[in-house]
Amino acid sequence: NEIFGQRKNSLGLNMNIESQGAEFFAKVRSFQNNQWQGGPIVNGKLVETIQRVGVTSPQQSTHQIGTIGWADAELAAEALAIANAAYPRWTNTDVNVRAEALEKLADLLEENLHELIALCTLEAGKTLQDGIDEVREAVDFCRYYAIQARKLMGAGEKLPGPTGESNELFVQGRGTFICISPWNFPLAIFLGQVTAALATGNCVIAKPAEQTGLVAYRAVQFALEAGIPGDVLQFLPGKGAEVGSYLVSQEAIAGVCFTGSTNTAQAINRALAARTGALVPLIAETGGQNAMLVDSTALPEQAVTDIVASAFKSAGQRCSALRVLYIQDDVADRVLDLLKGAMQELLVGDPIDHKTDVGPVIDGVAKTNLEQHIIDIQHVGKLLAESPMPEYTRGGTFVTPTAIEIESINQLHRENFGPILHVIRFNRDNLDQVIDDINNTGFGLTFGIHSRNETFAYDVAKRIQVGNVYINRNQVGAVVGVQPFGGRGLSGTGPKAGGPHYLYAFMTEKTFSDNI
Ligand code: NAD
Ligand code: ALA
Repeated sequence: NEIFGQRKNSLGLNMNIESQGAEFFAKVRSFQNNQWQGGPIVNGKLVETIQRVGVTSPQQSTHQIGTIGWADAELAAEALAIANAAYPRWTNTDVNVRAEALEKLADLLEENLHELIALCTLEAGKTLQDGIDEVREAVDFCRYYAIQARKLMGAGEKLPGPTGESNELFVQGRGTFICISPWNFPLAIFLGQVTAALATGNCVIAKPAEQTGLVAYRAVQFALEAGIPGDVLQFLPGKGAEVGSYLVSQEAIAGVCFTGSTNTAQAINRALAARTGALVPLIAETGGQNAMLVDSTALPEQAVTDIVASAFKSAGQRCSALRVLYIQDDVADRVLDLLKGAMQELLVGDPIDHKTDVGPVIDGVAKTNLEQHIIDIQHVGKLLAESPMPEYTRGGTFVTPTAIEIESINQLHRENFGPILHVIRFNRDNLDQVIDDINNTGFGLTFGIHSRNETFAYDVAKRIQVGNVYINRNQVGAVVGVQPFGGRGLSGTGPKAGGPHYLYAFMTEKTFSDNI
């Protein structure tokens, strides 16, 4: 497709094609009993650490899939010094060399697709389809940022000036970027941040989420194998409150690229403001209180298919996921009947079984918080539907997909990051109030609308202050280079990941005015 030049978006696999499916399942399952071992990688070498933790699977809490060493502040200081020393060389390396390494990384990810999907299901509890999508998105980020970097960072831009004077504008990397990522896209977002920073000539310290260090560790091994120098990319798994907060408090950093919760982004913002040294950018992509509006002209069957995908795909653990569904009152009963039926059909269970729709949530803390919310919100709302929970789910951190009717979005005081859908009835007379309420949450990530009245759909969509609007489709699964992704307000700073302006945030500009 045009967006990727001669290369297409990574295609992944079609699970409905039996011949692709059988071989594919067997290869993924061959990693089922693997024991992965990982740890910090500094200057290209695995570092033995004092603190080493066991990694268990959210699908079966007794299933240990490996161990990982955690870095501390002392190792972080060493890694930062090495990365800063490498910066002048890396930023002056030809952009084509950097881009080729990222393209080689994309190839290696595809060659190791089965192991990476197995790790995504075992470590992060992703379903097979989510695992496929995850690897595909990571591959897309590598290739897309390689193409963008070549386009933006080749020759300088000549500018007008008086006769005899030549003016030229160049861009280059800023220094060492601290890349801090969440567990819900342990490969795609982890590598999206890292590859954007590397492509533009920055050195990187990558800090993955505590829950998903092993898949990130494998990704870094592939990056080094692809030709990224060991002093340019350092990998520091460990506690956010320890190694993460140490890194963002340091003078000698050039920027922070963060994806995670709004609270952590705010803490990082404060830490950056409190430090001495250079003023550095924070690129933050955070949470959402995402709404969808279904009006009386919508096709109910299509709307329900898209509601279920938006709210329950990835067990609702997408920042883009639908949290609050507004249904126009004159079609509400019909749509809700269909929704209850669809939720009865959802298969919750073993993520590595290709028929499973909904896997576990990430860990016991998340499960407890979500189940408490389901109890609490029923004090002001009414339970509408729950999906069946098979015996299998007892062994892991599964949460029942649940729909609850409430009166107002103002009854929700935070993002509930799991398979919980809140439903509100509205009528056309209170539409302005609905739009104000959605905007007043302060979040601004995704918004969906189902309507066959195009004028109405566009009018509402323009008034909702979000980064990504989806009309008559689901509102998850943005594709790199096709739906640049990211929000505003409490949902993040922008620019949009996987979009044409993202790389600029990692660059600094330099003008040469030459009167020789
Ligand atoms: P989190 O904020 O708890 O953790 C994210 C990362 O920050 C982890 O690596 C963690 O170790 C680190 N961290 C924690 N405290 C830190 C500190 N004081 N200083 C530096 N680093 C610290 O988020 P999470 O639970 O891993 O991820 C889920 C959240 O991410 C949800 O809110 C979701 O909406 C959001 N998210 C947003 C996007 C987006 O593109 N907008 C994408 C995916 C996830
Ligand atoms: N980019 C991810 C999505 O669109 C979060 O679902």
